Amino acid sequence: MNSNDTQEQALRSEAIRAAIAHYSHAHAALKSYRPGERIPYAARVFDEKEIANLVDSALDFWLTSGRFAARFEREFSSFVGVRHTMLTNSGSSANLLAFMALTSPSLKERRIRPGDEIVTVAAGFPTTVSPIIQYGAVPVFVDVTLPEYNIDTAMLEAALSSRTKAVMVAHTLGNPFDIAKVSGFCVRHGLWLIEDNCDALGSRYCLDGVWGFTGSFGDLATSSFYPPHHMTMGEGGAVYTNDPHLKRLVESFRDWGRDCWCPSGQDNTCGKRFAKQYGELPPGYDHKYVYSHFGYNLKLTDMQAAIGCAQLEKLPTFIDARKKNWCKLREGLSDMEDSLILPGTTRDSDPSWFGFLLTIRENTAFNRDELVNYLESRGIQTRMLFAGNLIKHPCFDEMRAGGTGYRVVGELAITERIMRDTFWIGVYPGMTEEMIAYMLDTIRAFIKRGGST
Ligand SMILES: Cc1ncc(COP(=O)(O)O)c(C=O)c1O
Repeated sequence: MNSNDTQEQALRSEAIRAAIAHYSHAHAALKSYRPGERIPYAARVFDEKEIANLVDSALDFWLTSGRFAARFEREFSSFVGVRHTMLTNSGSSANLLAFMALTSPSLKERRIRPGDEIVTVAAGFPTTVSPIIQYGAVPVFVDVTLPEYNIDTAMLEAALSSRTKAVMVAHTLGNPFDIAKVSGFCVRHGLWLIEDNCDALGSRYCLDGVWGFTGSFGDLATSSFYPPHHMTMGEGGAVYTNDPHLKRLVESFRDWGRDCWCPSGQDNTCGKRFAKQYGELPPGYDHKYVYSHFGYNLKLTDMQAAIGCAQLEKLPTFIDARKKNWCKLREGLSDMEDSLILPGTTRDSDPSWFGFLLTIRENTAFNRDELVNYLESRGIQTRMLFAGNLIKHPCFDEMRAGGTGYRVVGELAITERIMRDTFWIGVYPGMTEEMIAYMLDTIRAFIKRGGST
């Protein structure tokens, strides 16, 4: 190391020390909770390690994906048990990339084409479905089950048509869908399976006697690192797969559609940059500027990945805390099942919960909105199961009116019910015993009074 390097290291250490001191002063002290204060459904949980990594990365001033992104992709793959992870700038981008990868002409007859059908659900987050519609494929909606809030696998065969190419669904709020049935259906009919794992990082499922993390069962899976999620980078997401060809496709769509796979800032890693002929280009045209797809730029910055590296170290404790908080709520509400449908764990699964779902029973003295308003007025933040029924939203107005562009199989009776009667509260790792006790007391007080406020 020369004297310039030594000085750079010393200055870097000094900047990181100052940032950690700032963290202790500005963030660490804000952690205590007093009953009655707002209880968010989720929030980022971090310490000085995230700050140190962020400053370390900022001082590199590499900015685009770099050493932290490479490290994160490696460590995340090893955590989930997959071969390849590709970071991107959000969970929605991850869904877009996972879907678009399957439209690549290189997949030949298995390629998804406009007009092909994708089996999914309407009770969930919109960007699990948006890529299907944006591309001109057809979402085929089936109902979900209560109290699992996941795809009703009894409807799968009825949803199948000669144009079905894939199933793309989320593990709802951490509860794995019935992977045995869904993946069996996909294998039987030669369909792709995309697991939207954005709300389920760390959930496990036992398939044929072997436990694995959700996200490792499908052809492709996605994560979101937006702050409420199991771990955060501020904004961020990932696509993961075991298939090296799908990996290249995701990277191509993510990185402008290019054919070249050199990391940012590197050239000619294949040694044949000027040696091949593509499309109708002249022989030897620079491979760095050869485009095999109509792509995007959905990369993330190395500063986001740097935060992610620190969060990943905490992920096992985050998952543990989410499970414990969920169990406390489940236990604390167990005598209120006359009024509330409590969430149910999918068979053969061990969920890493994103939230605690509640559905008001039919013929109860109060409705969902009354309970939600009561909780919100007492500082307890609530959330709907995202879209409830996506088909009812304004973004579907034109399609609904024309009756085109999507298909519904059977009745979406439970989906409708969820839109009307369901909401959820948080289980995030920053939640304390006092917060959980306050949430339980508040729900109990409302129900004891028969809902009158
Ligand atoms: C199931 C699901 N999929 C995808 C997303 C999109 O993730 P992002 O907000 O990072 O775009 C979300 C967002 O919370 C989600 O809940």
